[in-house]
Amino acid sequence: MDPQIRPNVLKMTPYSPGKPIAEVKRELGLERVVKLASNENPLGPSPKAVEALKKAAEEAHIYPDGAAHDFRSAAAERFGVPYESVIVGNGSDELIHLLGLIFLDSADDEIIVGYPSFVRYDAAAHLANAKVVQVPLDSDYRHDLPAMVKAVSENTKLLFVANPNNPTGTLVTKAEVDAMLRDLPEHVTVILDEAYYEFAANESDFPCSVDYVLEGRNVVGLRTLSKTYGLAGIRLGYGFAPAKIADAINRAREPFNVNSLAQVAGIAALDDEAHVQRTVENNRRGLQTLAGAFETIGAKPYPSFANFVFADLGQPARPVFQALLERGVIVRPGDVLGAPNCLRVSVGTEEEIDIFVKALTEVMAGVGAR
Ligand SMILES: Cc1ncc(COP(=O)(O)O)c(C=O)c1O
Repeated sequence: MDPQIRPNVLKMTPYSPGKPIAEVKRELGLERVVKLASNENPLGPSPKAVEALKKAAEEAHIYPDGAAHDFRSAAAERFGVPYESVIVGNGSDELIHLLGLIFLDSADDEIIVGYPSFVRYDAAAHLANAKVVQVPLDSDYRHDLPAMVKAVSENTKLLFVANPNNPTGTLVTKAEVDAMLRDLPEHVTVILDEAYYEFAANESDFPCSVDYVLEGRNVVGLRTLSKTYGLAGIRLGYGFAPAKIADAINRAREPFNVNSLAQVAGIAALDDEAHVQRTVENNRRGLQTLAGAFETIGAKPYPSFANFVFADLGQPARPVFQALLERGVIVRPGDVLGAPNCLRVSVGTEEEIDIFVKALTEVMAGVGAR
């Protein structure tokens, strides 16, 4: 007899991450492989965080502070929010998972997501056996917030907006989010996922989740140390939530969901403005180069406010992905992201971007540029 696993779990597809560098080297016998597939920080981790990690390693035999008090206090102070409203997780992935756990418990429950958007929202709903209502992005690959509001039913529990969006890099404005919040019924909680916050925060019309939480709206903001701070391997996500939601997350989470190394690294990284600035500056240049390279080959890059570019090649992107792989460049093919003609390419160092552009140019000459 088969083990009695819940059928909805068996319907889930395991997360497909960017291909690891070591695997590509092994499989293709390549010496140099560049990975521009997982939106990591090409400049590495925050140096301040690395220093803190070295010291904290000596204390690894002690259980972490389950409340993550010092990190949450640092985040509260830095972003001007009450300590109680700061939530933390093993990456913001875990916070998405926990939101699913605390809000969804029946097959009637629904979440609303843009499509394509970050796939872990869907997973949080599928795990709870709840429904995912996908609302297509608009023709500019931006979240269509009015259509998302229209899709709301009495069973809608959560509405997710990744801002900037992954995989498209596009942004919705403050005026658009204000209008959505005005039109949404009160029973819907909005999750503003700001994983790429620091890349977009200087946009004058950026709708900052902190402001909505401070206004007492039914909004949760999510952030991460994985991107500008360069700590993707350490796993630390945080966010801002109304007191009742923060309390529910606190009840549902594992006792030590954020390990002690992540906590000290996070405190040091939040204080490392120089690293964030260097990262944002490198990113600004990288976005321009990548967009220019796509335009040169006749593809359509979408305006990105994150650390990657999503471009429509006007033809299936899978063969291009494969040909790039054979030249030692790992990117993300759009078919696994819901847009088969698109490629998503993360910003790398200048050298990595040059390698990508050269490979792309060669590949497109081979497959026939439009
Ligand atoms: C929109 C979005 N949200 C959340 C995450 C998860 O980030 P992490 O779990 O590393 O904090 C990512 C990662 O790429 C993302 O793109």
